[in-house]
Amino acid sequence: MSDFTSNFWSVYVAGLTIVSIIACLLLLWITARKKVVSTSDNTTGHVWDEDLTEMNNPMPRWWMWMFVLTIVFSLGYLALYPGLGSFAGKLGWSQQGEYQQEMEKGRAEIEPVYARFASMKPEEMAADTQAMAIGERLFMNNCAQCHGSDARGSKSFPNLTDGDWLYGGSPEKISETLHQGRVGNMPPMAEAVGSAEDVRNLSHYVLSLSGSPHDSLRASLGKAKFGACAACHGTDAKGNQALGAPNLTDDIWLHGWGEEAITAMINKGKVNEMPAQAGKLTDAQLGVLTAYVWSLSNKPGAAAR
Ligand code: HEC
Ligand code: HEC
Repeated sequence: MSDFTSNFWSVYVAGLTIVSIIACLLLLWITARKKVVSTSDNTTGHVWDEDLTEMNNPMPRWWMWMFVLTIVFSLGYLALYPGLGSFAGKLGWSQQGEYQQEMEKGRAEIEPVYARFASMKPEEMAADTQAMAIGERLFMNNCAQCHGSDARGSKSFPNLTDGDWLYGGSPEKISETLHQGRVGNMPPMAEAVGSAEDVRNLSHYVLSLSGSPHDSLRASLGKAKFGACAACHGTDAKGNQALGAPNLTDDIWLHGWGEEAITAMINKGKVNEMPAQAGKLTDAQLGVLTAYVWSLSNKPGAAAR
């Protein structure tokens, strides 16, 4: 109702409701008074299926009182709860309020659990089964849609279990990633590189860096063009975590590999975003998630799984 700027609709709806209730009462009163003229055998004279006659008995008293009771109930309800236009009701109950109350209750219940983690380092939390169970659930609900339920990612969504990091894998860096989000931005580079042939040659050079299948003649021709890329990916092509520029020598490909994928990267660039979680999850939840993500690549024996 607050969507309306005037209270016309509120009055209209409230009026309709009250008129309907009065109409119910009137109907009850009229039908209770009106007598159907009956024949001497107390039937209405209506006969169906040859011998099914309709008797002319009044409605049972208890039924009438039930009807009256429902009307009284409706008036009581409308006085206490929101129902008459925008009138809030004497109890001040609202869906919004009930939701807030339940959220408060949930927070109060979970607080002592998180309080135990507050004094723990991420490394300690990673060894705590309760913290990791909570972390896994938070991950399933908030992260798995992008990073996969096994956290191994997919094309353009990084694998979080492999120890290879765009922005760094220390608990501090993971926490920063979760709180602020990240935007990886590689601009289109075709112009800086040169002709389409140059771009092809350069992409073979990029493939050669990780020993991926490539044309070595093209790679040697493309090598000189890597200067345009070194500002972000480094002269050794091992990447730059401050920019989220990936290591191009490790044969781990976020956006796919092969001549076609690399030339597309060079020609079109890429903007890839990890949404910030700070407004969505509490600091305590993000602390547990940081430890959970860290544990995925740091548990003893994690690599063997
Ligand atoms: C809407 C999809 C989406 C959701 C939801 C999402 N992420 Fe991400 N995340 C990404 C993308 C895309 C990147 C890579 C950003 C880039 O390429 O610069 C990323 C990057 C990351 C990184 C950095 C990886 C690295 O190599 O440095 C971490 C850590 C991470 N996400 C953890 C999480 C966690 C934990 C959650 C749940 C709270 C989450 N993400 C939710 C899409 C998502
Ligand atoms: C302004 C900085 C910048 C420059 C210059 C730049 N890149 Fe990038 N590059 C990035 C970033 C950031 C990403 C990661 C995008 C993302 O978040 O997914 C990236 C991603 C890539 C990828 C994808 C890697 C993968 O794992 O899938 C390739 C390939 C690549 N760059 C090649 C190049 C080449 C070749 C050049 C030179 C022509 C170049 N880049 C120039 C910043 C840069």
